[in-house]
Amino acid sequence: MTASPTRAAVVGAGPAGFYTAADLLKAGWEVDLYDALPTPFGLVRFGVAPDHPKIKTVTRMYEKTAKHEAFRFMGGVCLGTDITREELLGHYHAVVYAVGSADDRRLGIPGEDLAGCYAATEFVAWYNGHPDYADHEFDLSAERAVVVGNGNVALDVARMLVLDPDELAVTDTADHAMRPLMEAGVREVVVLGRRGPVQAAFTNPELLELGELVRADVIVHPEDLELDDASAAWLDSDEADAADRRRVEILREYAAREPRGASHRLELRFLRSPVEILEEDGRVRGLRVVHNRLEVDAGGRLRAVPTGEEDVIECGLVLRSIGYTGRTLPGVPFDERRGTIRNEGGRVLGEDGAPLPGEYAVGWIKRGPSGVIGTNKKDAADTVARMLEDAEAGALYTLADADRDAVEAWLRERVPDHVTWEGWRAIDEHELGLGEPHGRPRVKLVRVAEMLEIVGRRGG
Ligand SMILES: Cc1cc2nc3c(=O)[nH]c(=O)nc-3n(C[C@H](O)[C@H](O)[C@H](O)COP(=O)(O)OP(=O)(O)OC[C@H]3O[C@@H](n4cnc5c(N)ncnc54)[C@H](O)[C@@H]3O)c2cc1C
Ligand SMILES: NC(=O)c1ccc[n+]([C@@H]2O[C@H](COP(=O)([O-])OP(=O)(O)OC[C@H]3O[C@@H](n4cnc5c(N)ncnc54)[C@H](OP(=O)(O)O)[C@@H]3O)[C@@H](O)[C@H]2O)c1
Repeated sequence: MTASPTRAAVVGAGPAGFYTAADLLKAGWEVDLYDALPTPFGLVRFGVAPDHPKIKTVTRMYEKTAKHEAFRFMGGVCLGTDITREELLGHYHAVVYAVGSADDRRLGIPGEDLAGCYAATEFVAWYNGHPDYADHEFDLSAERAVVVGNGNVALDVARMLVLDPDELAVTDTADHAMRPLMEAGVREVVVLGRRGPVQAAFTNPELLELGELVRADVIVHPEDLELDDASAAWLDSDEADAADRRRVEILREYAAREPRGASHRLELRFLRSPVEILEEDGRVRGLRVVHNRLEVDAGGRLRAVPTGEEDVIECGLVLRSIGYTGRTLPGVPFDERRGTIRNEGGRVLGEDGAPLPGEYAVGWIKRGPSGVIGTNKKDAADTVARMLEDAEAGALYTLADADRDAVEAWLRERVPDHVTWEGWRAIDEHELGLGEPHGRPRVKLVRVAEMLEIVGRRGG
């Protein structure tokens, strides 16, 4: 058994990192929570859509965790750039990777690098004020946009493109994105699913919200809702739940609706895959799509199979929203196929398939880029249960030689301007103060230098 107190470095201050920290603190550990950015909360700050402020109030729970006396925040410290895995292992009994899945997945079709074709990951990070994307530019002048993918992120970006300026004005959308979005030329957004309505990955509250958009009609074509036999049988089976049946019902309600004649349209199309992004003068001019039918594969899953029938959707903007994937960390075993850290139940596995003492993974980088914020709570509890088992069995990293103060001294030397929780609170208060007079939740700082200046002024 390890003598008390046991110390963990949790790398990544998103939901998974915070839930892990909370569980470890409860078990009597000391926790230092690192993040590459001076700001905590991961995708709650840089992913969740600006018009969903209620969802972001989950951070109040994380603030409670941060109040614990055995908790420290080490912001602005990037593992792999500022510090190494070996250094962390030298200072802690356990290191938990909670770094999320920041990269986009590509379609792998011709034309993907044309001007006017972007990854939703980048678009989302831009309108949410992620410092790494503050200088990106998106040409939103096209009248028609196509969003490829049928998940909740696809619905988020589609909605952001048609929000009314009055709806946008009261959000924490980054200032650099506010005008481009308000003045966007987009009048019509087509959301493209490669499979059918029964297989769509978006959830019902998000689908229902489309029907409440101030200035957009939701268009669903009745012929897209004629289910193939396998989908219809699945929907009637015990495998489907009430939410699956309700999703199809909501789509049927949309298909039966008379358009209100709104200035904008948001159209949901199914059973179509992009095969080529068409070009004119170096820019996107359209998307060639093939129609699909569904076929049961060897694993019993219904997959899209091209029928050969094709259409061209004229458009000037394509956003691919087909999921995220993880980024490798130097020295940390990675499963290229899954885009996650190689692990079993959260225990990081070495080349030989055996667990590496004291190294763990949690959240999206452990299980892949799916699941809502709350999913990471159970996921963190599972990883922490294994950590506690390993601590009991004496199987943590035992070479950790520094105490709490020595860690602080080491980090001050390595990353002198790292940001403490006090420092983040200074940034937070500054942002809230900027937003208040305009009825906005906050005005986000998007430059790290500016954040550090605010922290410096307060001595955080
Ligand atoms: C666009 C979008 C919108 C979403 N909206 C919702 C929603 O409305 N409701 C909902 O319930 N769920 C939503 N989700 C899902 C939810 O955000 C995720 O389930 C959750 O954020 C995953 O948590 P995580 O901690 O694994 O990763 P993340 O939230 O991505 O956190 C990872 C953290 O690690 C840090 N990091 C990365 N690399 C390093 C490094 N090398 N060194 C140090 N730190 C590093 C990052 O800066 C980040 O802070 C959304 C997801 C996306 C992509
Ligand atoms: N409001 C919210 O609660 C909210 C908001 C945003 C995100 N989230 C959550 O965050 C997670 C990630 O969301 P996400 O939308 O990025 O991922 P997702 O839910 O996994 O959806 C990805 C979509 O991309 C499609 N796709 C994948 N490869 C494709 C290809 N080559 N061509 C065409 N389509 C392709 C998938 O179709 P197939 O099914 O056919 O593979 C699927 O429809 C989800 O769990 C989501 O619920 C929640």
